[in-house]
Parts: sequence; C-alpha cells; structure tokens
Amino acid sequence: IKTNIYDNSDEASFYVANEIAELIRQRQRQGKHAVLGLATGSTPTKVYEFLVKFHQEEGLSFKNVITFNLDEYYPMEPDSIHSYVRFMNEHLFDHIDIKKENVHIPDGTLEKEDVRDFCDAYEKKIEDAGGIDIQVLGIGRTGHIGFNEPGSSLTSKTRLVRLDRVTRLDAASDFFGLENVPVKAITMGVGTIMAAKRIILMAWGEGKSEVIHQAVEGKIRESVPATFLQNHGNCNFIVDHAAASDLV
Ligand code: F6R
Repeated sequence: IKTNIYDNSDEASFYVANEIAELIRQRQRQGKHAVLGLATGSTPTKVYEFLVKFHQEEGLSFKNVITFNLDEYYPMEPDSIHSYVRFMNEHLFDHIDIKKENVHIPDGTLEKEDVRDFCDAYEKKIEDAGGIDIQVLGIGRTGHIGFNEPGSSLTSKTRLVRLDRVTRLDAASDFFGLENVPVKAITMGVGTIMAAKRIILMAWGEGKSEVIHQAVEGKIRESVPATFLQNHGNCNFIVDHAAASDLV
C-alpha cells in the first residue's frame, strides 16, 4: 500500500480535500457526477472543514456530487447527538450546496425485518450511481474499515453487524458509558469498499500506529480487515508521523 506520511493531520487533510475537490471539478467539466464514499469519526473532520472552506471561499460546488456514507449505528435516530446523519450534517452537508436526494446514509431507524432489503438497495444505489470514485476511510484499533470488524470476509456487502468490544470501548466516552453504545451497526461491506475506484485511508496519532503497521505490513487476514486493502490497486494510506511510528 502506498503510504504518505505528513507532518500533521492538517497538512494531510488539506492534501486529501484537494484530491476530492479536483475530482469534483473534473467531473463538472465533463458534465458528470462525482461519487464519494464518506466516513465519520474524528479522523476525517478536517477534510470536511477544508471542503466547506473551498465551497465558501472558492465557490466549489457540490451540485454534481453523490455521497454514500459507510455506516450508521443500529438502532439510531437521525436527530440523536450520536447519529452519523447528524454528524455529516454538522460537519459537511449543512454547509455546502449538495442536493438532499444525492446524500445516502444507512438508516438506523429501520425495523429489523426491513434491514436486509435496505442493505441490498444500498448496494444497488451505489452501482446505479456508477460506483464509488473516491472512498474515504478511517481505521479502528480492531483493524475495522467501516464497521467491518475482525472476521468480516473480503466479499462482504452492506449488512447489519455486531460491533467489537474494543470499538464499543473506544466509543464509550462519546456515549457517556459503554452501556449506552449500540451493540450493532449497518455498514458497507469489505467487498463494497474494495469495489471503489480509489481508496484513501487516513489515520492520525500514536493510538493508530500498531494497527497501521498491521494493515500495511501484516499478513492479509480476516482478523485485521484493513489488510484486505493491500490487494486494492489504487489505495493510499495518508498518515501523520505518530500513526506511522510502528512502520518498519
Ligand atoms: C466511521 C467508520 C469507522 C471509523 C473508525 C475510526 O464511519 O467507518 O471505521 O473510521 O472507527 O474512528 P476515528 O476516526 O474516530 O478514530
């Protein structure tokens, strides 16, 4: 995996935001859509800040952009402070000119018996949009991408999953206690992610250094789902010095 190491997450995020903006402009010139796969969490927030800035200060338009978010907790109400719908609105969508109908986020409010159909339809919508041009990823300490926890297969698709205990522990402070962290989530699969034409995985800080080492230099295996990215032909890891500190 091509790994770019930056001095800090600001510089790295600026680089990623520019690549996304360049794709959007190129597609605008061609009269086409740009399809983005988006992540939540602390890692991509600066990328979204830069994209908002490009919109507000440089007139970058998102009218031709279609987005698919990786995941959402299940169950989850969209107006909850913990929902990824709310996260995306606050960090990005409320501040740009994207069309509401072009935004897709897994629905945490579904009845259990409707989840399977929703997930199949999510896959179909990605396909109908022409596939994901750039997929933005963070990485969890378990090696998860999206919420594909250890044991997720290479061919997995959008589905309901059970969250790993480590993932729930990492989210516990945000939820004011482990007992409040949802046990499940709806996530794109490893196969969904691998089908993206380009993948950019970002990681900041020492807390991610061990899993970055495993993902980049470890054996490809289901117990660290991010290792599957080693077989993607167009995947870049964008990390800061701290996250790169365990790389050989
Ligand atoms: C979020 C997602 C997760 C996070 C990962 C890292 O949509 O899919 O895989 O990217 O858990 O989270 P942060 O960035 O908060 O360290």
